[in-house]
Amino acid sequence: MPPKPIVVVTRKLPDPIETRMMELFDVRLNVDDRPLTQADLVEAAKTADVLVPTVTDRIDSAVLSQASPKLRLIASFGTGVDHIDLASARQRGITVTNTPGVLTEDTADMTMTLILAVPRRLAEGERLIRSGQWKGWGPTSMLGHRIWGKRLGIIGMGRIGTAVARRARGFGLAVHYHNRRRVHPDLEAELEATYWESLDQMLARMDIISINCPHTPATYHLLSARRLKLLPRHTYIVNTSRGEVIDENALARMLVQGELGGAGLDVFEHEPAVNPKLLKLDNVVLLPHMGSATVEGRIDMGEKVIINIKTFADGHKPPDRVLETMF
Ligand code: 8YV
Repeated sequence: MPPKPIVVVTRKLPDPIETRMMELFDVRLNVDDRPLTQADLVEAAKTADVLVPTVTDRIDSAVLSQASPKLRLIASFGTGVDHIDLASARQRGITVTNTPGVLTEDTADMTMTLILAVPRRLAEGERLIRSGQWKGWGPTSMLGHRIWGKRLGIIGMGRIGTAVARRARGFGLAVHYHNRRRVHPDLEAELEATYWESLDQMLARMDIISINCPHTPATYHLLSARRLKLLPRHTYIVNTSRGEVIDENALARMLVQGELGGAGLDVFEHEPAVNPKLLKLDNVVLLPHMGSATVEGRIDMGEKVIINIKTFADGHKPPDRVLETMF
């Protein structure tokens, strides 16, 4: 790889990151932040030594099969890599990196925000005031549900799931979790967490469910229509991971029929489209995929991208390599 590789960045990144990239690499920025089409991505893959995509770019086998042999690294801006065909990249000897760790606390904060916002009807209350319809305090008006003492079932006890569990403890929630592997006994003891090998069994007993696992072929529609039906009718679902982990249609249907307590969704199955049924429901809080959207987080993510590119260009293994076997 040349000392100043051609780096194609698909979206507008924070200014300090773009400036540093300009100093280090031969960079093609997207300062207008126009989302790229598949044809644009093919063009980018034909020019770049290094491609810097985000969650909004589908780097599939069609794009990769037309890439120039010069393309050696995909340094993705974000932790999730479900927008990249990892098998195709591996077959072509293209290294893939992501930005884990630096968005853990921000995403856990947003998860906790939704865990509080849905049972306490935060968005609904805000809408009431803005609509001018608020008639004043009343002993039985705007009643939500207490979260202290309830059971939170975390699906995916990785970095973010663990950070959510730590916060949840402070709010008096009992932590339960389902994960491919049981976590270290010390961590389980610290969190006073209960492990469920069977997701089905856990679902049937929880008051709140938080999705914190990555989207992979194995977790696509993990919360299927069948599994959603296992949840008690009062259960709230919070998702800050990927929309594809829940069958969004089935979820919307059950919410409309009053078969669930509510939902807090930061991610959607067909972003930026949102199931229209969800828009009508008061017990659903909807956010535009902003779990990691802090100035600090986005700069830290950019720094990680730069370190991955620089390390790779200098002939070393970049720190955040993504291997298919991780999932
Ligand atoms: C990122 C995310 O902002 O990192 C992830 O996986 O979902 C978001 O928090 C986005 O992916 C940037 O590409």
